[in-house]
Amino acid sequence: MLVVGNWKMNLDLAAARQLSSALVSSLGRQDHVEVGICPPFVALDAVYSVLHGSGIRLGAQNMHEADNGAFTGEVSAPMLRAVGCHYVILGHSERRQFFVETDAGVSRKAVQARAHRLVPIVCVGESLPEREAEQHETVVQRQLRESLENVELNHASELVVAYEPVWAIGTGRTASPEQVEAMHGHIRRQLEHRFGRTIGAGIAILYGGSVKPDNAADLFDRPDVDGGLIGGASLKADDFLSIVQAARR
Ligand code: 13P
Repeated sequence: MLVVGNWKMNLDLAAARQLSSALVSSLGRQDHVEVGICPPFVALDAVYSVLHGSGIRLGAQNMHEADNGAFTGEVSAPMLRAVGCHYVILGHSERRQFFVETDAGVSRKAVQARAHRLVPIVCVGESLPEREAEQHETVVQRQLRESLENVELNHASELVVAYEPVWAIGTGRTASPEQVEAMHGHIRRQLEHRFGRTIGAGIAILYGGSVKPDNAADLFDRPDVDGGLIGGASLKADDFLSIVQAARR
C-alpha cells in the first residue's frame, strides 16, 4: 500500500517543516505501507532535510520535460532529483484544467521522469459530465494510453497511476467504493495490456478525491486499490496519519 499527500499550493516553509516533522515522529519506518509527501517546490529542500532517513519519501507536484533551458518559472527532473525527490505527480486534473496540460505533454514528462529515475504518479480521471454520459471508462482509457505513450518500465515500482475523478476532488463527494473498484479494475486491465501481465499487475493504482479518515478504510479494502493520493486531509498530521493507519489494516 502507498499513501501520498499532495499538499498542492498550501503551507509556508515553517508550516511545511512542522507538518513533515510531525509525520516523521509519528510514522518512523513503515512496514508494508509506503508514505510520500509532495510539498510545493520551495519547500522541497527543507522537507527533505526533515524526511531524510525516515522512510517517508519526497515528491514534487509537477516538472518540465526538459533538463534545463529558457523556461521561465519551470523546474526540471534533475533539479527534483538533486533535492531528494523520489516521486513526481504528473497530469493532475488541476494542471490539466488550469494550466492546459495535455496527455501528450504528460507522456513526455513521464518519459523524462523515468530517464532521471523519478517515479511518476500519473493522474487520470473523468469530469462530472463525462461520468454522467457514462464515458468515464473511455476517457480514462484514452488518458492512460496517451499519457503513458513511450513510457518503458523494467519494474512495476517505476510507475504509479492515480485515479482521481474530477468531480470528487476537493468537493467532499467521494466516489463510492463500488465506482472506485470498477474503475481500478478497468485501469488494471489497461496496464496489464500495456506493460504485460507481470509488470501491469504490480503497478500501484491510487485513488484520490475527498479521501478522509472516515472513508479511507472502505476504499482501501477494495481490489486493485493500492492506496491513496490525499489532498486536503494531508495538510493535517492527525488526518493523514489516520489515513495511513487505514492503509495498514
Ligand atoms: P482532495 O483530497 O482534497 O479531494 O484532493 C485530492 C487530490 O487532488 C489529490 O491529488
